[in-house]
Amino acid sequence: MALSVIILAAGKGKRMHSDLPKVLQPLGGQPLLQHVVDTAARLPQASLHVVYGHGGERVTESLAHLDVTWVQQAEQLGTGHAVAQALPRVPEDDVVLILYGDVPFVGLETLQGLVERASLGQLAVLTAELDDPAGYGRVVRGTGGGILRIVEHRDADEDELAIREVNTGLMACPAAMLRPWVDTLENDNVQREYYLTDVIARAVAEDVQVAGILAAHADEVMGINDRAQLAAAEAALRRMHAGRLLGAGVTLLDPARIDVRGDLSCGRDVIIDVNAVFEGEVRLGDRVRIGPHCVIRDAEIGDDTVIEAFTHIESASVGARGHIGPYARLRPDARLSDEVHVGNFVEIKKSEIGDGSKANHLAYIGDTTIGKGVNVGAGTITCNYDGVNKHRTVIEDEVFIGSDTQLVAPVTVGAGATIGAGSTITQDVPAGKLAISRARQTLVSGWQRPTKK
Ligand code: UD1
Ligand code: CA
Repeated sequence: MALSVIILAAGKGKRMHSDLPKVLQPLGGQPLLQHVVDTAARLPQASLHVVYGHGGERVTESLAHLDVTWVQQAEQLGTGHAVAQALPRVPEDDVVLILYGDVPFVGLETLQGLVERASLGQLAVLTAELDDPAGYGRVVRGTGGGILRIVEHRDADEDELAIREVNTGLMACPAAMLRPWVDTLENDNVQREYYLTDVIARAVAEDVQVAGILAAHADEVMGINDRAQLAAAEAALRRMHAGRLLGAGVTLLDPARIDVRGDLSCGRDVIIDVNAVFEGEVRLGDRVRIGPHCVIRDAEIGDDTVIEAFTHIESASVGARGHIGPYARLRPDARLSDEVHVGNFVEIKKSEIGDGSKANHLAYIGDTTIGKGVNVGAGTITCNYDGVNKHRTVIEDEVFIGSDTQLVAPVTVGAGATIGAGSTITQDVPAGKLAISRARQTLVSGWQRPTKK
């Protein structure tokens, strides 16, 4: 049996006070809507429809990579109206699953539970017990315990407001059943909206079984309406990632102070100090140590490498037994082999660094190939840019570059060559030679320091 998932994402998100449409607000580095789509896409035989409205093209453009059908809801006349926009595209014998773009953590198993009930001809509604149900629609159950209807907070009386079981908004039911209910919804309520929730009373009236499925925990159905809830969701995500890492044997100096915005995989006995941020896809080998306050994005770090405090790594790789930082910056396409040392205020971009080479202090290495066992002195700069084009520098094995050297690319320094400190190298240096380009030191005799008048 096929499944049509309708994701409601047209709401304004007024309470965000933002120019960015709510479903594009980032959570764990990904737009809110992406989280929901990723989970729904794992359901078998599912086609996904996203109802968008507020933010219009901005939403469809920035999420153009998603494998979904976009359905526009020009005016936001309520959740029932939103579903009605997508229903014409749903095949008659599909089961329909309705999700919200602003409820990001709902789990796959929970969704499967809803779909299972719906495929038995029931209307399955996901509910949750909340300590503070304010703002949510309340689930009204009859004396037998069955669900009778859902009443919106703004339409509820005092007894109903005391109910702690709430509607999460997520539901599933056969398309053939849902269609006539949605087509005949009315908007005679406080908000003058077409409420999807009114279909529950309709099901009850037609003796269709309404299955209320209680969510496993409150996080799963957390809805994001304002910045405080977004921050709470971010904290929940942090807890989930930290829990997973701890469970897999990673040492986190403080599980409350690690941010994973993407996929982080770790080898054995990895230690991560406080306030590290991991983005995109990051792979850490065995026994890697990450110092405090590092930002690491789309990177691979080899076994036994130490990344010291305040290091930034982006789209780069480091081999085994390396020592990077503190305050190092590896930019896109920095490829470091094994046992490489990179110290404070060293920036490396689009360069390969061979085994055992070192750049320990204050250097810029860009568009460069460095061989094995090279020593790059403090203050060395590869002048890779002539204002129009970028040029490459090649530094072969066992070269020693004295401090404060400028290498004006394109230039090659042959294996085993030495460059005297303070040199500006504009021509290739043959292997094994010493090159010095600085002015000779002179002593000025008879010179006197000026004195105060
Ligand atoms: C809704 C439910 C409420 C439930 C709560 C859970 C209704 C009438 N109420 O209330 O019972 O407790 O969710 O979070 O369904 N949307 C559209 N088009 C519209 C209106 C809304 O796409 O015209 C989308 C929103 O973008 C959002 C979702 O539907 O993703 C829910 O809308 P929202 O206005 O937040 O509903 P609530 O008032 O929170
Ligand atoms: Ca909501």
